[in-house]
Amino acid sequence: MSDKHTVLVTGASRGIGLELAKLFAADGHDLVLVARSADAMEALAAELRQAHGVEVRVEPADLGDPASRAQLVARLADTSIDVLVNNAGFGSNGAFHELDVDAEMSQLAVNVGALTELTGRFLPGMVERGRGRVLNIASTAGFQAGPYMAVYYATKAYVISFTEAIAFELKGTGVTATAHCPGATHTGFALQAGTSKNKLFTAGAVASAADVAQHAYAAMWAGKPLAIHGFSNWMGAFMTRFGPRSVSARITSVLNKH
Ligand SMILES: NC(=O)c1ccc[n+]([C@@H]2O[C@H](COP(=O)([O-])OP(=O)(O)OC[C@H]3O[C@@H](n4cnc5c(N)ncnc54)[C@H](OP(=O)(O)O)[C@@H]3O)[C@@H](O)[C@H]2O)c1
Repeated sequence: MSDKHTVLVTGASRGIGLELAKLFAADGHDLVLVARSADAMEALAAELRQAHGVEVRVEPADLGDPASRAQLVARLADTSIDVLVNNAGFGSNGAFHELDVDAEMSQLAVNVGALTELTGRFLPGMVERGRGRVLNIASTAGFQAGPYMAVYYATKAYVISFTEAIAFELKGTGVTATAHCPGATHTGFALQAGTSKNKLFTAGAVASAADVAQHAYAAMWAGKPLAIHGFSNWMGAFMTRFGPRSVSARITSVLNKH
């Protein structure tokens, strides 16, 4: 997989997705950038074209909206996507019964629905061509229940389970799937989710988006089904296997509560 590829990155307007787009461009790969913020993506596209001479298409879409997703897929009907990066995602903070149900449903639509649909739309072509990569950005949130971020944690558990399952199915096809799990990372995520003052982001180490992207990028090319960024995150995920699930839920509730 060292020659030129066409790479679709969702959530490429900022944060981890933007850093991933930079890594692909620096290695000479062409890009399709997807998010809602067209201006931010146009600025990134201009920068990457100039710095690396790659082709960059900007495809604004609201991934929470099935009609917008269908239009995106239709616009890409003649484009072979060799690498799909499902990175777009967001969270929310609070007791589930107090949160806005519509916002929680749109979180499911982006974190789970769009990731599953785009994988389903582009994976068959990769298998047919005998080469490809799927990189799904999950989270260490996916390893335990997450009181006060119940839907977000559940969506990331789905991403890990789904990705590990298709990674198994893809053995021998020339295509791999990787679930990458960042821990707390400096991006717009915490502010948007309302978690920037929570212990998860104030009490421990918070990674840079560039470091997380680099780790995910290497894991994806290596074809790893699952990769966790950082030793302490890895330890945390590992330890949840041994204690009662009620204990990890209690610890997580402390990290997630205001
Ligand atoms: N930051 C962390 O602490 C952390 C930890 C673990 C995992 N993650 C995961 O990492 C991934 C990237 O998040 P980030 O930290 O880089 O956050 P971010 O800076 O807030 O970026 C989120 C990206 O998702 C896009 N997005 C959100 N809703 C969308 C929608 N409806 N349609 C299209 N695009 C949408 C945003 O673009 P527009 O707003 O322009 O649409 C933006 O580009 C997410 O899946 C997140 O769950 C983050």
